[in-house]
Order: sequence, then structure tokens, then C-alpha cells
Amino acid sequence: MHLPNYKEAKTTDKREYEEKNYKLKEEYKDKFLGKKCFLKTYGCQMNEHDSEIITGLLTEMGFTFTDDYLEADLILLNTCSIRENAHNKAFGMLGRAKHLKEEKKDLMIGLCGCMAQEEGVITNLLEKYSYLNFVIGTHNIFELPDALVKSVEEGKIQIEVYSRERELVENLPTKRKNKFKAYVTIIYGCDKFCTYCIVPYTRGRQRSRKKEEILEEIKKLKEENYQEVTLLGQNVNAYGKDLYEDYSMAELLADVASLGIPRVRFMTSHPWDFTDAMIDVIAKYDNIMPSIHLPVQSGSDRILKLMGRRYNIESYLTLFHKMKERIKNCAISTDIIVGFPTETEEDFEKTLELVKECKYDNAFTFIYSPRENTPAAKMKDDIPLSEKESRLYRLNEVVNTYFLENNKKLLNKEVEVLVEGKSLKKDEEYFGYTDTNKLVNIKNGNDDIIGKIVKVKITDAKTWSLDGEYVSR
Ligand code: 5AD
Ligand code: SF4
Repeated sequence: MHLPNYKEAKTTDKREYEEKNYKLKEEYKDKFLGKKCFLKTYGCQMNEHDSEIITGLLTEMGFTFTDDYLEADLILLNTCSIRENAHNKAFGMLGRAKHLKEEKKDLMIGLCGCMAQEEGVITNLLEKYSYLNFVIGTHNIFELPDALVKSVEEGKIQIEVYSRERELVENLPTKRKNKFKAYVTIIYGCDKFCTYCIVPYTRGRQRSRKKEEILEEIKKLKEENYQEVTLLGQNVNAYGKDLYEDYSMAELLADVASLGIPRVRFMTSHPWDFTDAMIDVIAKYDNIMPSIHLPVQSGSDRILKLMGRRYNIESYLTLFHKMKERIKNCAISTDIIVGFPTETEEDFEKTLELVKECKYDNAFTFIYSPRENTPAAKMKDDIPLSEKESRLYRLNEVVNTYFLENNKKLLNKEVEVLVEGKSLKKDEEYFGYTDTNKLVNIKNGNDDIIGKIVKVKITDAKTWSLDGEYVSR
């Protein structure tokens, strides 16, 4: 049993761990043949990708997967801590799983992901949800098979959560969801400690994967006909800082692009350490997509300071405009929080002004949610919920107008779209994404274009999607 510990999670010392290659224990192979797993993923792309690894681990043990939790033998929740509503959703599902377990005694239930790293969550689970089989933290997914088998054999809850990063395990059996687009983690953890954010406590300190491992993984993906890779990290700009003297994100991007995979993306970037060298590389390579996620969080310097964001609006705008100038057709998206402690109407209006200047192609907007153990949670959460909701509404009204305005610029133009498949809503339509990551519904496609990058003429522009006609390959 290893329980999470915030004191340890806060520490910033550098640790050395041995590197390992994963291999399933012989006796676990197909041990659960015939059993079905319901795996529910909450949160960000990092979690989605972790779920692809978990799917791989469980498949080797004999599991198949179901979308219906009622028919599952194992219910596994890959959880997120970022805001209170992510918590509520996971606890709601745990409640449903508990009811099911009352009828189905052999039902196995597990929890992993960011919530597993929270002291308060674990205390709650031990008090009220001790029927769980296992809890696995974010630093040791590779131990999930052990925890599962042990919980069944010993008939009691296994909690294996480490508060700091552990060995970097390569060769994990990933089962990717998408056949054409792949996530590739390049850096784990985060060292920024923004005052509102729980991620540095749930995902540990920054640790880069070796460039050789990353490039090898992408080479294989190319051989398997993947058309797109997204390089993942909480802050990808920090790539290499913990590992190399003279190899950073700019060099990695260039090396990945040189492998010739048709589309390269990366996320997420902190505005503070986005270098000119990165901008030059993105501008130079046609297969690095002109689409950058650059979270600003607030338009007020006073609030940015309280958030511990390390930049002010002037320097953010300098970077923003440099990207727009140097990278052809560059689409920039962002994240914004409203209702941070002490945010005044004047601060909020500065956020609206910033949005009007940047005219983002996409924006994810959130109401501030105090997170356990973060510095901001000690500040008085002094803005009434109704005011936070009203600010969110007003902000969304403004950001939405720019999504539509930017989409309209593509009307009657030919764009390149990576076609992912048939539309879920209309059987005769197909869908895919542009280089700038805009969703396009294609009216006159055919099965041959699935998995290919094709030319599409845009015929209609909406706020969150485009309509188009297939032109040619
Ligand atoms: N409350 C609200 N939003 C948050 N985010 C991170 N922490 C919080 C919080 N405590 C948002 C930020 C971040 C995105 C992933 O989630 O905007 O960029
Ligand atoms: Fe949620 Fe952050 Fe964890 Fe992703 S890293 S799952 S957004 S808490």
C-alpha cells in the first residue's frame, strides 16, 4: 500500500530512476480471458493516451472492452482532477458501480488517473468506497496488472500511489483508438506550479523521454500508415531541459518533421518559454501544422501575477503577433479562466479586450474551481457563482463570434482535410480536420478517402464546424 502525500508531491528535487522496458508477467497472460472491461476516461489528451496504454495492458491479460458498464466484469475509471465537475462525474460513476456490485459480487472496480494522486480523494475512498479493488496513480500505470491480480487474490483494496515520478517505462503495449492520428508523449509532468493548478501535484516534475525513443515510436507509426502525430506534454516547450544541454523542443520538432509523417502537432505550450527557434521551425516545415494552443488564462496583468503565470499581456501579445506574422495561416487557440479570486469587473473586461484583439480560432473557457492544496485555494474564493457564470456567458458570446468569423474566411476556398471516417450523424457524409484543426463535414465523399489527406472546397461556415465538398486527392 502506497498512499499519496502532498508534501512529497510539492518537492522539486531531481531524482534518478532506473529506466525499464515493460513486459507482462507470463502468468498474467490471458488470465482474464472472457472478461469485459468498461474503461471510462475523463480529462485531457494525456489521460486519453494513458487509457490507450491501459487498454493495451488489459488486452494482454485477456480482457475485451464494452461501452455498457452494466455488462462489465471490470469497471475502470481513468480520472481527472482539474475542476470540481470532473470529480463529481467520477464519483457519480463510482456510485453507480457500487449499486451494480451489490447484485454482481464478482464485479471488479478500479480507479486511476489524477484523482488517485489526491490525499482527500483517497481518504474519501477508504471511508466510503472500500469495495474498490484497486487504485493506481499516474506514475505507475505499468503496475496496474499487479494491483488487479493482487486485489482479486487477496480480496482487499490495493492502493498503489506514488507522489513523485518513478522509473520511465518504455515499451508499454499501447492500443490506439484512432487509426490515422496518434498521440506521442514527449514530456511528463509540470514544473510551472501555476497557483490554481493541481497538475504539478498529480503528474509530478517535468521529465522528458529520450529523443531516440520518441523518434523510434514515430518511425513505427509512419510505417503503420499514421498520417498525424500529436506530441504531448503538460508543457511541451520544456522538452529536453531536464535531459540535454543542446537539444530542445525546436530541435525535436525539426527531427520529427524530417521523418516525413504528413502532419505533426504538439500540445500544450506555455507562453513563457515558447522560443523564437520553435517559431522558425514551425514556419519552415510544411508538415508541422499551423495550429498552436497558447493558453492565456486572463487578460489582466494583476490576475496573471496572482496566477503565477510568469508573463504579462504585453509579452503575450508580442509572442502572439510574432507567431501570426511568421507562420503562414497560423490558427491560435487558448484557455481562459473566469472568476479567479479577486477578479474584478475591470480585470474581466481586460480579458474581453484581449479576446477582441486576438480573435482566437478556438478557446476553452472555464469557471475557476478551487483545487485542494493549491496556493490559490488558500485565497478567498470571493466571487459569487452567479457572477462567475455571467462572466463565462459573456466571454463565450465574444469568443464564439470569432470562431464563426475565422471559419467564414475559408468559404469557397480549397483546404486539405485528413478524413477520419463516416459522419456519426449523417450516414452519407464523411468528416475530417483541416491543418488548423477545424472540423469539416464532407457531403460527397466515398470510403476511399478515409485515412487520406484530400482537398475539400468549403461551402458553408458555422461556429464549430465547416461544410465542404470533396474535390480531389
Ligand atoms: N479551475 C478552472 N480551470 C482550470 N484550469 C486549470 N486549473 C483550473 C482550475 N483550478 C484550466 C486552465 C488550463 C486548462 C487545461 O484547464 O485554463 O489551461
Ligand atoms: Fe485532468 Fe490535468 Fe490530470 Fe489531464 S493532467 S487528467 S487535465 S488533472
